[in-house]
Amino acid sequence: MLKQGERYGTAAARWAGVGPYYAMFPAAFAEKVITQFTAPGDVVLDPFAGRGTAVFSAAARGRRGIGMEINPVGWVYAQAKLHPASQESVVERFLEIEDLSHRYRRAAENAPTFFRCCYQQNVLQFLIAARRHLDWRNRKADCTAMAFLLVNLHGKRNDSFSNQMRQTKSMSPAYAIRWWRERSMRPPEVDPLEFLLKKMEWRYAKGIPKLVESRVYLGDSVTILPQVPRYWASRHRLARLLLTSPPYYGVTNYHYDQWLRLWLLGGPPTSRRVGGKYKGKFENRAQYRQLLLDVFGRSKRLLRRNGIVYVRTDRRELTLNTTRQVLREVFPDHQLRHRSRPYSRPTQTHLFGYVEPRVGEIDLILTPGGCTR
Ligand SMILES: C[S@@+](CC[C@H](N)C(=O)[O-])C[C@H]1O[C@@H](n2cnc3c(N)ncnc32)[C@H](O)[C@@H]1O
Repeated sequence: MLKQGERYGTAAARWAGVGPYYAMFPAAFAEKVITQFTAPGDVVLDPFAGRGTAVFSAAARGRRGIGMEINPVGWVYAQAKLHPASQESVVERFLEIEDLSHRYRRAAENAPTFFRCCYQQNVLQFLIAARRHLDWRNRKADCTAMAFLLVNLHGKRNDSFSNQMRQTKSMSPAYAIRWWRERSMRPPEVDPLEFLLKKMEWRYAKGIPKLVESRVYLGDSVTILPQVPRYWASRHRLARLLLTSPPYYGVTNYHYDQWLRLWLLGGPPTSRRVGGKYKGKFENRAQYRQLLLDVFGRSKRLLRRNGIVYVRTDRRELTLNTTRQVLREVFPDHQLRHRSRPYSRPTQTHLFGYVEPRVGEIDLILTPGGCTR
């Protein structure tokens, strides 16, 4: 087993971990699959990119990664990893946010109870200023700054900005308030700037990773994939590997369960469900099947004819059968084999309470006829 210092001995290893996102691939898994099935210079595609683990792993290993992600939280993490701004430019933005935060005293005092139980007044002012002034969609320094804020927005009481909360899932306001009050838990005293500078010291200690130009698009794969060839595949080669993990049927709502981070990105200050296609819990069978069909069908056009498809998914019947059927339909000339994954934490199913039976996950691997690697 590697010691902490060895494990994080390179810039790529330090940035790969940005940020907490359930259902994320372990970085080591993505690295293993990418090195097994591709060579430097190849393109790797992930149409359900999440926090961008597969795309980043590809980019850090001399491959070119391309992905799509509909959830802005995952996208900000992916974008910050693939295009990290310089430490100086991010520090400068945080200094500006700190100056601006003095304007938001009244806004913090009038914030809903949840926010006042979750954060100290000075922290809340800082967060409100960041929410109003960081242009995370368009400015590199602002996107990286936002990633640092999102990572630390909630988690253990003395290692995040918040009162005690899970790091991976935002709790509902009513539940959280009750829980803190029952335990007399007050928000921690944190100097946001000092806290962020310390976190940045660690992340930047080995520099910025050297990456091959790669990209994750923010939005719906179903609509983005058909447009990609025009500005991507014409310049670059088609993908050698499609490495992805689709949402699992009925397990999590990626938007509702991330409501606090989505608030920081400009969303509403409540845990209301977000409207919109593919922003729910994926509970309608026909729609779920159609999503997989649309995404894998459209991804095929960006994949070489002899490309490999590697899909990690849930072992439970509905997700597994639907995914298997769709993959067979879209790639009739490929051979399909399974690789069982022992139950390991954290998985989507574990995080959302499906502990019995511990079915775990499974890898579906499609290779062109005759390829045995
Ligand atoms: C299992 S997670 C992928 C996690 C990823 N492997 C990682 O390492 O972070 C599935 C992702 O698909 C995204 N998603 C669902 N529908 C989508 C769509 N139509 N277009 C793009 N992304 C979508 C979800 O928001 C979620 O982040």
